[in-house]
Amino acid sequence: MRAGTLRGILSNMAKAGFSKKSSEPKQTGSLSGKVAVVTGGSRGIGKFIAKRLADEGASVVIAGRTLADLKSAVEEISTAGGRVIAVQTDVSSEKSVHRLLSKTLTEFGTIDILINNAGQYMEKSLTEMSLEEWNGVIGTNLTGPFLLTRAVLPEMMEKLDGTIVMISSTSGKRAKANSAAYSASKFGVEGFSEALLREVRDYNIRVIVVTPSAVDSSERESRQILKGGKGARLRAEDVAETVVAAIKLPPRALVREVELWATNP
Ligand SMILES: NC(=O)c1ccc[n+]([C@@H]2O[C@H](COP(=O)([O-])OP(=O)(O)OC[C@H]3O[C@@H](n4cnc5c(N)ncnc54)[C@H](OP(=O)(O)O)[C@@H]3O)[C@@H](O)[C@H]2O)c1
Repeated sequence: MRAGTLRGILSNMAKAGFSKKSSEPKQTGSLSGKVAVVTGGSRGIGKFIAKRLADEGASVVIAGRTLADLKSAVEEISTAGGRVIAVQTDVSSEKSVHRLLSKTLTEFGTIDILINNAGQYMEKSLTEMSLEEWNGVIGTNLTGPFLLTRAVLPEMMEKLDGTIVMISSTSGKRAKANSAAYSASKFGVEGFSEALLREVRDYNIRVIVVTPSAVDSSERESRQILKGGKGARLRAEDVAETVVAAIKLPPRALVREVELWATNP
């Protein structure tokens, strides 16, 4: 059995006396009975995706590094009736990712939907970029999805079912100056996702890439000013709606990639 896989984690849990809980969601909705892990679900776009998945009846696990943000996101989603837990996680760490998945399995018994959303943006000239900064961006944006996806795939392949959503960026299609690490990571996400899809399509696993342009992912009141028209940016909820709509399609239908633009930036 390979290290790092969900099956490997399950086997270790069984040895440690854990058993698989059946997931019995109390909610109804089109994703009722499904279990979703959302990395970076503590704020920004990830929190909106987590909320929408919970609205649709999924049991949701949110992951991020900052405990206070995780706690407030759990409170917000559960107050709205969602079934949600949080696990403090650094997606660039294999050990931390295994902890996230083993907690998910202990709580909900399986993983049906993985949203690789956690991301770090950096605008800096190359000559000023430290190796640590480079590794931070690549570790979160590219190594994170690798670690998460590698761990959940074997079980999804065995049950011939699963959805993996990659939150990329238009910076993964066209790079700007002073964004080498970020663009390299997102170009990497695009290549990773295409290779992955070719590898797992025969197992009925969908790999969906959502590629937004600039998003106002804050919850500032000021963003309400721009309701549409020139200068209106995308909002986090636009990305969340896109993700949920793609997931809700019948499993036979695959939205391979959505490039989501602001209409009139
Ligand atoms: N905002 C945009 O304009 C835009 C446009 C296109 C694509 N995107 C992509 O959309 C995704 C979300 O962006 P956002 O704007 O919502 O960002 P955000 O508001 O900065 O939120 C990022 C989330 O990722 C988490 N995170 C960062 N590093 C992590 C790590 N090493 N391990 C675990 N969690 C980590 C953060 O929590 P902690 O910091 O507490 O860990 C937070 O929950 C990213 O992949 C981004 O590249 C954003």
